[in-house]
Amino acid sequence: MRETTSTAAHTPPVFSPALSDEEGPRLATDLFREAFDAEPDGVWYAPGRVNIIGEHTDYNGGLAMPIALPHRAFLALRRRDDRTVRLVSPQTRDSVDVLNLDVIGPKGTRGEVRHWNAYVAGVAWALEQDGLGPLPGFDAALYSCVPLGGGLSSSAALECATAVALDDVASLGLAGTPDEPDEAGRARLVTACVRAENEVAGAPTGGMDQSASMRCGAGHALKLDCRDGSTQQVPFDLAAAGLALLVIDTKAKHSLVDGQYGARRAACERSAELLGVDLLADVSTTGLDAALDRLRASGESDVEVLVRRTRHVVTEIDRTRRLVDLLQDGAPLAGDKLAEAGALMNGSHDSLRDDYECTCPELDVAVDTARELGAHGARMTGGGFGGSAIALVDVDRVDEVARGIVAAYARHGFNEPAFLDATPSAPAGRLV
Ligand code: GLA
Repeated sequence: MRETTSTAAHTPPVFSPALSDEEGPRLATDLFREAFDAEPDGVWYAPGRVNIIGEHTDYNGGLAMPIALPHRAFLALRRRDDRTVRLVSPQTRDSVDVLNLDVIGPKGTRGEVRHWNAYVAGVAWALEQDGLGPLPGFDAALYSCVPLGGGLSSSAALECATAVALDDVASLGLAGTPDEPDEAGRARLVTACVRAENEVAGAPTGGMDQSASMRCGAGHALKLDCRDGSTQQVPFDLAAAGLALLVIDTKAKHSLVDGQYGARRAACERSAELLGVDLLADVSTTGLDAALDRLRASGESDVEVLVRRTRHVVTEIDRTRRLVDLLQDGAPLAGDKLAEAGALMNGSHDSLRDDYECTCPELDVAVDTARELGAHGARMTGGGFGGSAIALVDVDRVDEVARGIVAAYARHGFNEPAFLDATPSAPAGRLV
């Protein structure tokens, strides 16, 4: 046991690199040429995300505040003259998947689409459902550096890359550019991506990931109001404040289709029903205690579970609003302001751990270790039950915190974690 610990303590942390504007398109284009023996029309990309705060609020009509990662999915794509779709990725490079836009459909129907193909074909299906078809078929090669299954929205990145690519080759005119986004058009593309995820891939997620990938801005976090889809850019220039956002990919497997996520969502919907509101975002912070008393009086079985879920959602929306307010003036994140931001992030994690019960030992150890080693704030990010955590740290302490987490994971016998540096980056667009 001691031997394992001391060896692992000296294992340097592994940082997953982000592909550059040159490397990503080159790798996707090489794969495209190899598979289809032709040149793509272009290369489009969309980023993964981390959520700074506002977890499990999106499907409750609340606020979230994600940033786009520098890690992106790159899609080299060429329009076809028929309705065939051919797809290839590095994992499946020996066999091209062939689909047809006239056949694809929601999960559970005859047109059901398997594995990652659902995220691509599902977007085409959803755009046509929205009256934007008929779309042309296409050949596409995917090359992504968003870690798979890390809770960093690798699937939303793929959906959004597909959406901006189809927007372009089918001349839908919805996306604008990352520098001059068409907000209404992007909101419509987000809706198609969410339908692809919910109906074609079958994951009952809330839409924050797709909004982040499509609507974030470089150097900013996105205030996302999930009730009406409205957004606002919030200054979040960490480097200027001497800070970094360390992402810890716990390598503990999570899945959004395994029932836990759906169970949380169903509990929120049941609470809203018992309280007579459309969405839990309708419960105010000041009205929370009275609402919890009403829930307790409902006689529902397992009512304390509903109480805890509701308390998380309502307090989390409040924490998110407070962090947005704090950051809005754009002044450097330092002193009391930094301490308050960190406390809000910590409060979010603690509520997700105790009231929403969606953390896991790997997430809690990452967060506790980061805090012990001087992180200003640390929390899980995304859906939970595995996936990733984030820690707001001084830039010169990133390595020490990462090493400490590697050592703590070895002591607990967990999988070795991976790390990412999360610089707030640009939303989905075209590179070549
Ligand atoms: C996952 C889902 C999102 C959101 C988060 C939790 O990432 O895809 O829609 O619900 O979990 O905030």
